[in-house]
Amino acid sequence: MSAQKPILQLHNIEVKYHEVILVLKGVSLEVPEGGIVALLGANGAGKSTTLKAISGLLKHEEGRVTDGAIEFRGEQIHRKDPEEIAKMGIYQIIEGRRVFEHLTIEENLRVGGHLRGNSQSLKERLEMVYSYFPRLKEKRNLVAGFASGGEQQMTVIGRALMASPKLMLLDEPSMGLAPLLIKEIFEIIQRLNQEERIPILLVEQNVKLALTVAPYAYVMENGRIVMDGPSEVLKQNPDIRDFYLGLTDLGERKSFRSVKHYKRRKRWLT
Ligand SMILES: Nc1ncnc2c1ncn2[C@@H]1O[C@H](COP(=O)(O)OP(=O)(O)OP(=O)(O)O)[C@@H](O)[C@H]1O
Ligand SMILES: [Mg+2]
Repeated sequence: MSAQKPILQLHNIEVKYHEVILVLKGVSLEVPEGGIVALLGANGAGKSTTLKAISGLLKHEEGRVTDGAIEFRGEQIHRKDPEEIAKMGIYQIIEGRRVFEHLTIEENLRVGGHLRGNSQSLKERLEMVYSYFPRLKEKRNLVAGFASGGEQQMTVIGRALMASPKLMLLDEPSMGLAPLLIKEIFEIIQRLNQEERIPILLVEQNVKLALTVAPYAYVMENGRIVMDGPSEVLKQNPDIRDFYLGLTDLGERKSFRSVKHYKRRKRWLT
């Protein structure tokens, strides 16, 4: 996919929950140094599971990588604890914006700054985060539980940023947000990638947006990668146009949340 050496490689990984529920059935993908890669797929395909396999968070859900390997900067990480993986600089922004509700926005960000020792001072990193998210600076003293959905999403991204990430795993950052906010957040994500050179693996239901932001994408179905390629090529693919871009067009009239519900219902019906 790229001449650069990948920072992250998944080699044919298999994941089981509770030792018996086979969810990922041999997933291979890679993220190049400094790149943004999108991981697409319907509800239940295994996208979040893939991110959790990388960050090690599977452990908290009695899930395990039972075959294959995950390599980050040439080092195998699939048997490491989530804390160890976070120390290496891999941060997953999980679905659903988990802020510390009783802390202020700035306190939330400061927590991120303590996750990993780094050369820049906490104050410098805070200023860097505020330069990307001026809205968070304005609201720095607001208790995070009272912040809007968009502000909470910015807070969790900012919190990860405070820890000088070497790889960010974003799970549906647009979920439930208004279109203008989605645009704002995605512009910032793109700038973080371009200006801070942070590699990003992006799971996103808004396929049109994902294929615009990420130059390369993988499509997952039922625990397997069924297609991958440059986004420009995928955009022309009839299956992608029908199933994903068709739904996304519908989603612009409805809300993205309702598209997700629609997909969920569809899954139950089949
Ligand atoms: N902790 C768990 N225990 C058992 N099965 C699980 C667990 N977490 C997820 N699964 C199952 O694994 C499959 C993949 O789930 P996953 O959350 O990875 O999908 P997804 O692609 O992220 O879907 P969505 O778009 O709905 O977020 C689903 O069938 C789900 O029910
Ligand atoms: Mg998910």
